[in-house]
Amino acid sequence: MPKIRNVHSSITHDSARKHVSGKAHYVDDLPEPSNLLHCYFGTSDVAHARILSMDLSAVEQYPGVVRTMTARDIPGDNEVSPAHNFDEPVLANDLVQFAGQPLFAVLAESRAIARQAVKLAKIEYEKLPPILDIETALDRKSFVIDPQVMRQGDSRAALSTSPNRLQGKIFTGGQEHFYLEGQVSMSLPQEDGDILVLTSSQHPSEVQHLVARSLGKPINAVNVEVRRMGGAFGGKETQAAQWAIITAVFANLTDRPVKLRLDRDDDMRSTGKRHDFLIHYDVGFDDEGRILGIEFEHALRCGISADLSGPIADRAMFHSDNAYYLSNVTVTSHRCKTNTVSNTAFRGFGGPQGMVGIERVIDAIAYRLGKDPLEVREINLYGLKERNVTPYKMTVKDNVLHSLVADLKESSDYTQRRRQIDAFNRNSPVIRRGIAFTPAKFGISFTTAFLNQAAALVHVYKDGSVHLNHGGTEMGQGLMIKIAQIVADEFQVDLDKVKITATNTGKVPNTSATAASSGTDMNGMAARAAARKIKKRLISFVSKEFSVDKSDVRFINNHVEAGEFEMSFAELAEQAWMGRISLSATGFYRTPKIHYDPETSSGRPFLYFAYGAAVSEVEIDCLTGESRIIRADILYDAGKSVNPAIDIGQIEGGFVQGAGWLTSEEIWWDTEGHLRTHAPSTYKIPTCGDIPEIFNVQIWQKGRNREKTIHRSKAVGEPPLMLAISVHSAINQAIAGKLGGETLPALDTPATPEAILNCLSGA
Ligand code: MTE
Ligand code: MOS
Repeated sequence: MPKIRNVHSSITHDSARKHVSGKAHYVDDLPEPSNLLHCYFGTSDVAHARILSMDLSAVEQYPGVVRTMTARDIPGDNEVSPAHNFDEPVLANDLVQFAGQPLFAVLAESRAIARQAVKLAKIEYEKLPPILDIETALDRKSFVIDPQVMRQGDSRAALSTSPNRLQGKIFTGGQEHFYLEGQVSMSLPQEDGDILVLTSSQHPSEVQHLVARSLGKPINAVNVEVRRMGGAFGGKETQAAQWAIITAVFANLTDRPVKLRLDRDDDMRSTGKRHDFLIHYDVGFDDEGRILGIEFEHALRCGISADLSGPIADRAMFHSDNAYYLSNVTVTSHRCKTNTVSNTAFRGFGGPQGMVGIERVIDAIAYRLGKDPLEVREINLYGLKERNVTPYKMTVKDNVLHSLVADLKESSDYTQRRRQIDAFNRNSPVIRRGIAFTPAKFGISFTTAFLNQAAALVHVYKDGSVHLNHGGTEMGQGLMIKIAQIVADEFQVDLDKVKITATNTGKVPNTSATAASSGTDMNGMAARAAARKIKKRLISFVSKEFSVDKSDVRFINNHVEAGEFEMSFAELAEQAWMGRISLSATGFYRTPKIHYDPETSSGRPFLYFAYGAAVSEVEIDCLTGESRIIRADILYDAGKSVNPAIDIGQIEGGFVQGAGWLTSEEIWWDTEGHLRTHAPSTYKIPTCGDIPEIFNVQIWQKGRNREKTIHRSKAVGEPPLMLAISVHSAINQAIAGKLGGETLPALDTPATPEAILNCLSGA
């Protein structure tokens, strides 16, 4: 009997057809209870102020309004900060800290009524001076958390003795998640004051915890369920809780179900984004371009509260080396407090910003020395046996970059194309081309060690069908199908025998956010552990009932066999049930080997590294400043991929999202602190027209995780985003070529047409 190959095969996303036919259920698609009420929230239109008075009487008198809510109506803690910061209220107390901050909420018979009524509030402010940018925050020493320093060797000494030295800076802009499904929650009152919350969150356990805290109830009074999100990208790691709390408090106050769905503009104004960074560097290097000493100073916009800024800023520091050995290095990180919405997780979690810094440095060195930047990249790559210790003193043992870079250099025809581009540019004054090659190394694990745990719950019913549940959430990335594949493979049943079910805090408790790209690594292991427990019981049962040796029992192709004995999986399930064998089990996993000491900035924060590389060729129009990606070649090490089709989708999507961040997506506040890019009319995300014309995406065939991860696969969710840094480098090259070729243009990110034109006219 042939084995069923459920893993390492390209299986379509379980919801693909449902997504395109509209049959996938999102929170706002669920049947509405007949007594459902809708709510909305009113926000501040000033960036920093004391609230002198808030008069909601006209709001309350508006026909169809049921009641209002302010901070005082929240029975428990008026707090939405994750972890233990206590620095972010659900609804402002007396202090307004950013324009767009929720101040009060309105409950009404319809969403339209609630939104209309919100406008009738009369609020008096005493304005305070706002801090709206990173520089001002640095000047005023306005921080959400204390600065951090990471150090290896002696960067000062190395800088002073280096034959060449360069100083510079780069600003990387923020990014709006622009998930297609906005933030949404529906809370349904249950018996005894309990609450069921249906929401769109990467972190149901945290929503459960925060809702319970705001209601002043124990965690077991709240149940949170997430079937899927219509995209999240880090924007629903902490940002869903506020809206869930507002609906839960209203539901609790009125004993009626309550729904809240954010309008796109409000979603953009009132929820967190990627951190913008100001990065200063000071680098010393030899005549071949080898880095001898380097100092980075990161300053990032965190907005009004810590949220996840600490670990995000840390991850930026952890990735300030990217793929390169830095022997003498100091990285300092300032976590700036500003009067703008609190910044949050976004795909890469600070890693991309840290990597833009070092990639910029490498380009700067190459331009100074007149070398091909790829040559400088290669010479600085981590070594295999030496030159392989990171700035946080972890030895890189799984470096595949030398081999992967060589493979991509050949398959992309880099060297030949670089020459062709030079030739093209000689005869093309207006349209100019550039090409760049960027490797990426990304650490996999949560850098907060205790978050690296996951659990699952598996039932086998007496007809042999399987019910699968785990702590991970689906946001489009294909986590559910991958875990189902793993469980189906373990039982050796057809994939359609495994039922994918909504993430639910009542089934699997105390989970971590689905984040850090570790969803499959962790939940896959936990689900397999649960399946193995059930298998073990079935094996004992078969051995005892049919007098066969335990070691002979094999699960294969919907059957269980042992020598002469053979039975279908379904029949065995029925027999085991009759034999009073438990067919339900939980599984648990904690990532091994990881530890980190922030005091000495040393340890092993990551179980392993994911690697990839990209070559991007771009074209700019020197009259309009527009750019486009003509061709991108990507090679990504997904280990032994559980599902290559899903992984290719992640690589393509991540790269294009990264290209959007670096070229067209610009977040812009005016001098009063109003976000002026709060709709697709002013904020440009990539569309299908922005995908590279030639897009060669490959999973590296030699990939295999040297750590014992699930089926030796590697994480894929975030790292491909960083491969888009090659697009920015290539644009720099196209501009530099136009300007004469010797100096690296002062091009920040995003490289919008305006920014490109500014660089060109700076000549
Ligand atoms: N892919 C889709 N389609 N939608 C998303 O929201 N989020 C990304 C990535 N890929 C995202 C996505 C982010 S930020 C992370 S951390 C990972 O998916 C999380 O899922 P994983 O751990 O299962 O890879
Ligand atoms: Mo992803 S930024 O870790 O949610």
